[in-house]
Amino acid sequence: MLPSLWPAVLPIPLWTAWIRPLLAMPMICLDDFEAYAEHHLPIAVWDFYAGGADDCESRDKNVLAFKRIQLRPRVLRDVSAVDMRTTIQGTEISFPVGIAPTGIPSMAWPNAEISSARAADAMKTCYIASTYATCSAEEIAAVSSGCCWFQLYIFKRRDVTEELVQRVTSLGYKALVVTVDVPYIGKRRKDMLNNFKPPAHLKLKNFEIFKASVTDKDNNCLYKDVLDPSVSWKDIQWLRSLTGLPIILKGILTKEDAELAVRHGVQGIIVSNHGGRQLDGVQATIEVLSEIVKAVRGRVEVYLDGGIRRGTDVLKALALGAKCVFIGRPVIWGLAYEGEEGVKNILQILKAELHTAMALSGHKTLSEIDRTLVLFAKL
Ligand code: FNR
Ligand code: LAC
Repeated sequence: MLPSLWPAVLPIPLWTAWIRPLLAMPMICLDDFEAYAEHHLPIAVWDFYAGGADDCESRDKNVLAFKRIQLRPRVLRDVSAVDMRTTIQGTEISFPVGIAPTGIPSMAWPNAEISSARAADAMKTCYIASTYATCSAEEIAAVSSGCCWFQLYIFKRRDVTEELVQRVTSLGYKALVVTVDVPYIGKRRKDMLNNFKPPAHLKLKNFEIFKASVTDKDNNCLYKDVLDPSVSWKDIQWLRSLTGLPIILKGILTKEDAELAVRHGVQGIIVSNHGGRQLDGVQATIEVLSEIVKAVRGRVEVYLDGGIRRGTDVLKALALGAKCVFIGRPVIWGLAYEGEEGVKNILQILKAELHTAMALSGHKTLSEIDRTLVLFAKL
């Protein structure tokens, strides 16, 4: 195990890339990338990425809940040609798995957001850039020619928020993903124990404008006093006045809020519990999905993130009504392994696993997949 005091500033992969072929670990499924990342990232960095809120109950349930869902395959349906293409907000993607926004991924690989955006482009799928990016919205947009969305936190500084929305709109981002489950950051015990701070050389580029007012003594502006806990439904109207981009709410977990989202004119919902990093004790996202899909009644697109680790997990989410799913931590594991190539590996593995899962369950296209494919195992 590499010394844990290794400075988080130097991502280990850069130093070990030349020995990796010698240590050739079989990278067959996402778990292998997780094991690689855990072994190679400095402990405090790993804890930040892997961590959840409080007891990490919801983080773990996101993954486990998929195991409770069983599949009802159909046979003799000629699956010699399986087509996984779909569209999200009118843009075609090659398969229904996108990259969720993750803050400060560049502790796993330098300029991580550019690597991930390039990998998403190469795989013809969607990349959601985080507000907490260490590459600027301009740098990310410059390498994205396909489906690139921007995830927004609404700051107390509404002037800064407005400027950011107008910037990403002019840069050609195809949707604005408004994260609604972070009025305050959840209690991340490991980060508190590690006294975690991002390495000083990493700047949250979208916060540079804040430099004067809210950066802490290390000139690192994390979440402290920056996000606006007063955000409410009236602000959706405000955002709609700032941009013509489709607005997608990320972090909806109840049918009541799904109905309000539709009534406030949003174009999409990501059923998400922030990877279990916010309110611990909420249901797994796959357990909530049906409630949201039923409430929305097809009026807007519904997506899901949280706990997607297998192609069969993707299939189960599609069967329960998700148009597309997004992955967070697995992308970081891919970055830790080999940057853009590692992220492409992760997406290729999930794409191949989904192809197999669709074929073995008797589905040639995504439109054939429906609720009859799944049943919840009795505990
Ligand atoms: C996140 N997530 C997140 N979400 C968001 O809207 N803005 C952000 O900046 C971040 N940052 C972030 C950092 C890290 C390290 C993680 C693990 C997650 C949540 C993310 O978009 C997504 O909801 C979850 O990661 C999905 O769960 P899985 O795929 O990680 O199980
Ligand atoms: C987190 C923030 C960056 O979950 O969304 O760490």
